[in-house]
Amino acid sequence: MQDQINQYTAEIEAFSPANADELEAFRIKYLGTKGLIKDLFEQFKSVGPEEKRVFGKVLNQFKQMAEAKYTDLKENFNSEIENSKSEIDLTLPGNGFEVGSRHPLSLVQSEIVDIFKRLGFVVAEGPEIEDDWHNFSALNFPDEHPARDMQDTFFIKKNSGKDDIALRTHTSSVQVRMMENGKPPFRAIMPGRVYRNEAISARAHCFFHQVEGLYIDENVSFADLKQTLYHFVQELYGEGTKVRFRPSYFPFTEPSAEMDISCTICKGAGCNMCKHSGWVEILGCGMVDPNVLENCGIDSKKFTGFAFGMGVERITNLKYVIKDLRLFSENDVRFLKQFKTEMI
Ligand code: PHE
Repeated sequence: MQDQINQYTAEIEAFSPANADELEAFRIKYLGTKGLIKDLFEQFKSVGPEEKRVFGKVLNQFKQMAEAKYTDLKENFNSEIENSKSEIDLTLPGNGFEVGSRHPLSLVQSEIVDIFKRLGFVVAEGPEIEDDWHNFSALNFPDEHPARDMQDTFFIKKNSGKDDIALRTHTSSVQVRMMENGKPPFRAIMPGRVYRNEAISARAHCFFHQVEGLYIDENVSFADLKQTLYHFVQELYGEGTKVRFRPSYFPFTEPSAEMDISCTICKGAGCNMCKHSGWVEILGCGMVDPNVLENCGIDSKKFTGFAFGMGVERITNLKYVIKDLRLFSENDVRFLKQFKTEMI
């Protein structure tokens, strides 16, 4: 028996499998239910008591040695398999990566911002969650103005009016913050996302993007407003684009106007975009109401100014003719890919 154990020990110690199959054969040969070690234990049953005392220990040690060898080899194999998984095959072709594209609204917004920057306007930003004062009251909205109605505004907290909290309905709120926190002159534009409680359809959405503008100094007149916006339109849509101003009403400007441009799609001949009138409205504007200046701590006897506000979606439509507003927020790559431009 001792001879057999010695022979097996030598074999086991020398064993070095080339693959997992050889290791499995080893397990079956020595450790399997019908294996050689099982055999030795069978033989052990029939030896005399003196030999039992000697061999019991030897046999158990031998079995432990064989098991330890097997476990070691198995672990080695497993880690080799793991390693080979993470090995990089340098002969594989590389993964191509697609160049992204800028969102059309982002493209057009930067175009608008750049034009005004060249005129000396700076960019100002503010919070999307606003209080009643900055979104409405400071801007001369009367208490009963319909824009305060639940139909138009997403209120986050609605109490008595004065301490309501809402998602801003326009970026005019940023104008208030700017005037309150600084001293005139001001020359700034306010790009940003705004929210209105509208049912989502091809022509309306519950959020959209605006660029508003504010210019306050001594002796600013309506002529400055017209020339600034005229220049803006020539830059954005090309020389020769016509503009016209129609009287309008906003609580925060007096006088107020809406500005139309000659239709960029049909050049005034008449099409669906301009409802066959040849003109499309692109923005609201006016001279800042003296009440607003006073609300923000600015001397309305000394300073005057103009303000304007436009929807970026509308401006983008007139460049790219996008019939359904929902496309802007659905992230359909087939739509977005069409605006491939150099990444800036
Ligand atoms: N705040 C107005 C709007 O959201 C736009 C506007 C801004 C009009 C400034 C006049 C002056 O519709």
